[in-house]
Amino acid sequence: MKLLVTGAAGFIGSTYARLVADEHDVTVLDKLTYAGRRENLDGIAVELVEGAIEDPAVVREAMEGADAVVNFAAESHVDRSIAGQDPFTLTHVIGTGVLLEAARELGVSRYLQVSTDEVYGSIESGSFTEESPLDPSSPYSATKAAGDLLCCAHHHTYGLETVICRGSNNYGPRQYPEKLIPLCVLNALHGDRLPVYGDGRQVRNWLYVEDFARAIHLVLERGDPGRAYNVGGPDECENLDVVRRILALTDRDESLIEHVTDRPGHDRRYSLSSDRVRELGWEAATHFAEGLERTVDWYRDNEWWWEPIRSGEYRAYYERHYGQALGPG
Ligand code: NAD
Ligand code: DAU
Repeated sequence: MKLLVTGAAGFIGSTYARLVADEHDVTVLDKLTYAGRRENLDGIAVELVEGAIEDPAVVREAMEGADAVVNFAAESHVDRSIAGQDPFTLTHVIGTGVLLEAARELGVSRYLQVSTDEVYGSIESGSFTEESPLDPSSPYSATKAAGDLLCCAHHHTYGLETVICRGSNNYGPRQYPEKLIPLCVLNALHGDRLPVYGDGRQVRNWLYVEDFARAIHLVLERGDPGRAYNVGGPDECENLDVVRRILALTDRDESLIEHVTDRPGHDRRYSLSSDRVRELGWEAATHFAEGLERTVDWYRDNEWWWEPIRSGEYRAYYERHYGQALGPG
């Protein structure tokens, strides 16, 4: 297949590109925002086009001749969406709309939208199925939900073969350190404090990034057009437990834990039923204990990757978001 993969200079997209590049002809379209890095694609046989999914001319040129489109392009951090929603609306709503229009006009056979469990909102007990109503809480998840609905509309109205993959919290190598796990791993390695929002009893469903990448490719090849597929990780964990495990893996003690002001509108728990994607033959291969250890080892061994980030845009973001309370990030 000739694939157009958007947002693949980021964390999950680059993992997906690594998985499929040997067997498919891959073009990556990426705006190279703060989270997009050419280095993430080092050693992978792809063509990288720098450009935005909301730019119709760039999109048409990059999509010409593609059999399928996989859209990872996003502003992916909930806290940044709370500080300012505009780039989220631009990429998730306008950008997704531009991609769908171009896919229809150019006769692309399959379009896969990478989405999130956050579109369903928070659930106290039990798990969301694909039939659960969308009830997003943050500007991030609300604009992601809008992107999903546009995909459904393009299937329903124009017959475009769209599929949606809704993943739970990913972790693994090359995740930008604004997210809980890489942030806490780097802070622990440096002996800095680990910020825990509120009481730290929020629950996330952790999915190793390579498992999500495999699910996405399976759904691209075998999913039913017009359908969404939930992809949940094998293990639920409270944030405080995640942080304690990171401290143990880095030989630090719990005095580094710092409870800080909670995220506004913070979702308490996410949980997905993944029966539908299991019927296609998917199963998560990596449990949290093993994946977290691998992730800590990767950050420990790859200072070249994170050092330029920690001294660049991230530092300004960190100081803006956490203030002086935490000391250096
Ligand atoms: P990321 O922030 O690491 O990467 C996003 C990539 O998209 C970057 O390379 C960035 O440059 C690019 N991008 C942003 N805006 C763009 C635009 N307008 N045009 C073209 N490129 C643009 O994000 P990630 O964690 O790899 O997430 C990838 C996708 O997976 C997103 O759609 C996200 O919503 C979804 N998702 C993420 C998780 C998670 O835990 N990280 C879980 C489920 C779903
Ligand atoms: O659930 C899927 C989503 O997971 C994806 O759609 C998003 O793109 C991705 O960023 C992620 O969203 P979360 O908000 O769940 O991830 P984050 O790593 O930001 O936070 C995980 C949990 O940890 C959440 O409950 C907030 C908390 N947290 C986060 C940070 C950054 C802290 O307690 N302290 C922190 O400093």
